[in-house]
Amino acid sequence: MTTAVEIGTSMARYVAAHPSLQYFFFGGKGGVGKTAMAGATALWLAGQGRRTLLASTNPVHSLSGLLGQNVAVEHTPVAGVPHLWAYEIDTRDTIERSKREIRDKIQWFLKFADISTKADDFVESATMNPAFEESAMFENMVEMMLKKEYDVYVFDTAPTANARRLLGMSKVYSLWVDKMLKSRQEARTLREMLSFTKKKDEDPLLEYLLGFRARMGQARALLTDASKTAFFFIALPEALPIAVITRFIGWFHEFGIPVGGVIVNMVMDRQALGSQVPEFVLNRLRMQEEHLGTIREKFDGQVRAIVPLFDQEVRGIPMLQQTAAALFAEPA
Ligand SMILES: Nc1ncnc2c1ncn2[C@@H]1O[C@H](COP(=O)(O)OP(=O)(O)OP(=O)(O)O)[C@@H](O)[C@H]1O
Ligand SMILES: [Mg+2]
Repeated sequence: MTTAVEIGTSMARYVAAHPSLQYFFFGGKGGVGKTAMAGATALWLAGQGRRTLLASTNPVHSLSGLLGQNVAVEHTPVAGVPHLWAYEIDTRDTIERSKREIRDKIQWFLKFADISTKADDFVESATMNPAFEESAMFENMVEMMLKKEYDVYVFDTAPTANARRLLGMSKVYSLWVDKMLKSRQEARTLREMLSFTKKKDEDPLLEYLLGFRARMGQARALLTDASKTAFFFIALPEALPIAVITRFIGWFHEFGIPVGGVIVNMVMDRQALGSQVPEFVLNRLRMQEEHLGTIREKFDGQVRAIVPLFDQEVRGIPMLQQTAAALFAEPA
C-alpha cells in the first residue's frame, strides 16, 4: 500500500519497547474504530501469552457485539482465545452501588452531626449531578486497575470529551477529598474535645475518604506512568477525526498522561481497486490522500499503524485477527 504517512515506531515496536505496559486506552471521535482497535490489541496481547482483560467503561457497550458472545455479566473468557477475558462494566449496577455507599455515609454523617434531615435529599442532590455516572464508572475502572488480576488491561474508552473528563476527575477528586478530610478532621477534633469520654469514635466517613484518596492517588500514579500506561488515538483520513485527536493529544499532554501514538484507520488501498475505479471512489481516495498528508505533518513520528478499510465490519474473532495483523504489522 502506498501512503504518504511514514511509520517510524510501529505498534509492535512500541509495545516491545515498553515491556511493562499494562494499561492500554483507545480514544477518538465516535465511530472511528476504538472498539475494533481495542479488541484487536487485546487479541494480539493475549496471543503473546499475556493474561489480558478487554474491558468497556463506555456506557454504550459494544464488546458483546464485537466478540459475538455475552460479556456483560462478569469477566468472561473469550471463546477460542486463550488468555483473553472480556467484560462490559454494568453502568446501572455501578451507579446503584455508588448510590448505596453514598447513602450509608451520608446517613452516618447526619447522625453523627445530630442533623435531623432525611439523608435522601442529600443523596438525591449528590447523585443527580451529571458527572456522577462518569465518576462511578471511573471508580470502577480504577478498582479494576488496582486489583492487578491480569497482566494487561485494554480499555475501550468512551468517545471524546468523556475520557478527558474521566481523567481530569482524578485530579479534582483528590482536591475535593483533601478538603473534605480537613473539615472532617476538624469536626472530629471538636467532637472529641466536647465529649466527656476519652474514647475515640469510629469514623467511617473519614476512613472512606482516606481510602478513596489513596485509591485515587494510586490511579493517578498509574495513569501518568509512561512505562505502564499508553493512550492511543484513532484518526481516519478525514477532517473531523483529525481535529478531535489533535485537541485530545493537547489535553493529555496538559494532564501528563502518556500518549502512545496515533492509529490511522479505514485507509483505502488504491492498489486493491484495480483500474476500473468509479469517480465516486476516486474522489474518496483523493480526499483520503489529502488528509493523510495532514496526518503526516501533524503527527510525524507518532503514527503507529495504518489499518486498511476492510470490505466488512470488524466483528468476530477472524476479523479481529485480520485487524490485529494490520495493526501490529511491520511497515514495509
Ligand atoms: N478498518 C476497518 N474496516 C472496516 N470496518 C471497520 C474498520 N474499523 C472499524 N470498522 C467498523 O466501523 C464501525 C465503527 O467501529 P467501532 O465500533 O470500533 O468504532 P468506535 O470508535 O468504537 O465507535 P463508538 O464511538 O460508537 O464507540 C464498526 O461497524 C466497525 O466494525
Ligand atoms: Mg466503541
